[in-house]
Amino acid sequence: MTASRLLKMSSLGSCLSRVMVILTAALVSTSVSSSRWGEEGVEYGQLGTSITLQCDRANGSSLVEWRFNGSADLPQGSSSQLGNLILLRADLSAVGNYSCYDERRRLLSSRFLRLGYPPGVPSVSCSASDFENFSCYWTSSLETFLPTRYIASYRNKKNPTSPCLQDPARPNMCSVIKADVWSSYRMNITEENPLGSSFQLLNVMMHTIVKPDPPEALVVQPVPFFPRRLQVSWDYPVTWPKESHFQLKFRLQYRTVLHGSWSVVETVNLSDVITDAYSGTEHVVQVSARDFLDAGSWSDWSVEVRATPWISSTMETSEETTTVELEGPDEGPSTVPHTEPFDPSDALEKVAILASMGTFACVILLVALIITILIWIRVRKKGKDQTKNRDFISVVHMKALPRTQIL
Ligand SMILES: *[C@@H]1O[C@H](CO)[C@@H](O)[C@H](O)[C@H]1NC(C)=O
Ligand SMILES: *[C@@H]1O[C@H](CO)[C@@H](O)[C@H](O)[C@H]1NC(C)=O
Ligand SMILES: *[C@@H]1O[C@H](CO)[C@@H](O)[C@H](O)[C@H]1NC(C)=O
Ligand SMILES: *[C@@H]1O[C@H](CO)[C@@H](O)[C@H](O)[C@H]1NC(C)=O
Ligand SMILES: *[C@@H]1O[C@H](CO)[C@@H](O)[C@H](O)[C@H]1NC(C)=O
Ligand SMILES: *[C@@H]1O[C@H](CO)[C@@H](O)[C@H](O)[C@H]1NC(C)=O
Repeated sequence: MTASRLLKMSSLGSCLSRVMVILTAALVSTSVSSSRWGEEGVEYGQLGTSITLQCDRANGSSLVEWRFNGSADLPQGSSSQLGNLILLRADLSAVGNYSCYDERRRLLSSRFLRLGYPPGVPSVSCSASDFENFSCYWTSSLETFLPTRYIASYRNKKNPTSPCLQDPARPNMCSVIKADVWSSYRMNITEENPLGSSFQLLNVMMHTIVKPDPPEALVVQPVPFFPRRLQVSWDYPVTWPKESHFQLKFRLQYRTVLHGSWSVVETVNLSDVITDAYSGTEHVVQVSARDFLDAGSWSDWSVEVRATPWISSTMETSEETTTVELEGPDEGPSTVPHTEPFDPSDALEKVAILASMGTFACVILLVALIITILIWIRVRKKGKDQTKNRDFISVVHMKALPRTQIL
């Protein structure tokens, strides 16, 4: 399965460069419309154009009186012609309730005029947090001031034209369920309002848009007796199906709380050990995930988790209760009695002293060894030459002792 996927991946490699082909087209029709947008007695007009309002039930009589929001003050640039009211270059101040009356001040008709613009081409982007479903998100590119709806659909090899499922609770997105990872989807997101419609076409290939959710359950812990280590573990995001053949790889970033620059390591495991942490300093750690074969993009970073590497408990003041969890079979440098508060540079100094003491001991041993060998050679030589002289060894031994003591 993985092998066949690899083959497919490489054959599609050339396609990866043209990640998304965006085709745009606009279909806009403008005119005063009174289409059914759920509002009774409402008429829609385009801002900046001339709008003609008709007085229903006026039978050709020019003796019609118009009122705007119940007042005889009509918007600027308006004129009445044969019972019709004409608004020249209507702007937003012309939005309101228009009513017309006959000569006996009887209401003939009224309507509410809304003004705005036809839709612009919506901007659309698509993403997938796994290899099963993907979603497209859109935003309007133009403030239209009018009620708006979206029609979302797609086409691919298998489906002529199918709706991209919309959730009424999330009006700016739609989802394609159980998508085919290897086929190309032609998305059509159409923005529609009473003055017209405008659509955006988008070619989507799932493996180029997949972006996992951030890894979860991030845990960072000190490693006992290692003041420069932090043990980090995490888990797959719940949205990434574990039974899938598509595995994730991970990226770990960490820094001290004080320093701005991150160190980053990559791993395929669900855990890692940071070995170059700063001792005694709090660190910030985050992880992100990506498809194992580099499809799509890296996830966002997970939530931050903070932790401090292990600190020798004996270096803390003994009364502190916080050191309880750090206590254990003390060995090595931690056995050095210390009553002052812990200082990382202090610890470094101690390590340096210990190291130099070790070197010193080595030198002494080496010198002693050389002397012993020299003596042994001489003894053998003399033993051969003067086998009678047996006091020599004890004499030399007596002489050698103070020398090693001086060293
Ligand atoms: C329409 O016009 C006729 C005569 O021209 C008049 O009798 C009638 O009352 C008018 N109707 C309205 C609704 O004004
Ligand atoms: C007319 O009425 C509408 C709706 O009540 C209101 O939004 C608009 O501002 C009013 N216009 C004027 C010029 O008073
Ligand atoms: C508009 O004004 C008329 C007359 O005053 C009134 O009957 C009607 O309810 C108003 N319409 C709206 C939508 O405010
Ligand atoms: C894909 O969408 C369907 C329907 O909403 C859902 O049941 C399923 O769990 C989704 N798959 C993943 C991996 O989230
Ligand atoms: C996009 O969808 C809209 C609304 O369904 C439709 O009118 C338009 O023709 C479609 N465009 C293409 C290129 O399929
Ligand atoms: C982590 O990955 C490495 C290879 O990158 C592997 O050798 C090692 O066993 C893995 N460790 C765990 C705990 O899975």
